[in-house]
Amino acid sequence: MEDRKIRIGIYPGSFDPITLGHLDIIERSSRLFDILIVGVLVNAAKKPLFLAEERVKMIQSVTSHIDNVRVCSFGGLLVDFAKQEHAEFIVRGLRAVTDFEYELQMAQMNRTMCPGIDTIFLTTDLRYAYLSSSVVKEVASYGGNIDRFIPVSLVPEVMSRCNPISADKKGSQEDKKNEQDRTDHQ
Ligand code: COA
Repeated sequence: MEDRKIRIGIYPGSFDPITLGHLDIIERSSRLFDILIVGVLVNAAKKPLFLAEERVKMIQSVTSHIDNVRVCSFGGLLVDFAKQEHAEFIVRGLRAVTDFEYELQMAQMNRTMCPGIDTIFLTTDLRYAYLSSSVVKEVASYGGNIDRFIPVSLVPEVMSRCNPISADKKGSQEDKKNEQDRTDHQ
């Protein structure tokens, strides 16, 4: 019997930072492939909040429960990265029709450049249809609660980068509360 070829997919994006919407796409698409590579774009044009290495680490920490997921950064053309990784599939999430035109153009461009690589679209879970990394950063910059938008373990890091004053205040409030708890228990 012929050996089955390993199926490799790439989920590319800026992930600045990763949101629960991205994580949902990663969890669902990891079931479609033997290996899913989350490709973090090093994009000089976008002026990211987090360095590529920081974004890679954040994604690794929240995907450690998924055995077949690998996370790495890439620069240059996505199809070149896909070829280098022997991936035949690109995964993209569609949140609304507004995403469609841009995504279709990108998929067709990529397929023209590299006919061996197909793009697969997953519809974003309705719970996250309105989410984007920029919206999360905006809410955080005004000290708003972002617990429902990104993995909880990443909240302190994102808050302190977007709104250091509010994160400091929260930290000292928590310190005070812990101090009070300790006094109460004495
Ligand atoms: N949940 C939450 N947010 C989502 C989402 C989901 N499921 N799907 C998309 N988004 C949001 C992101 O948060 C991001 O928000 P932001 O603009 O506020 O940061 C936005 O949608 C789009 O981001 P993303 O999915 O990260 O894509 P991108 O546009 O930053 O990058 C690449 C897309 C990496 C695929 C593309 O730029 C690329 O391939 N670049 C390499 C160069 C190349 O090959 N170019 C030619 C392509 S034809």
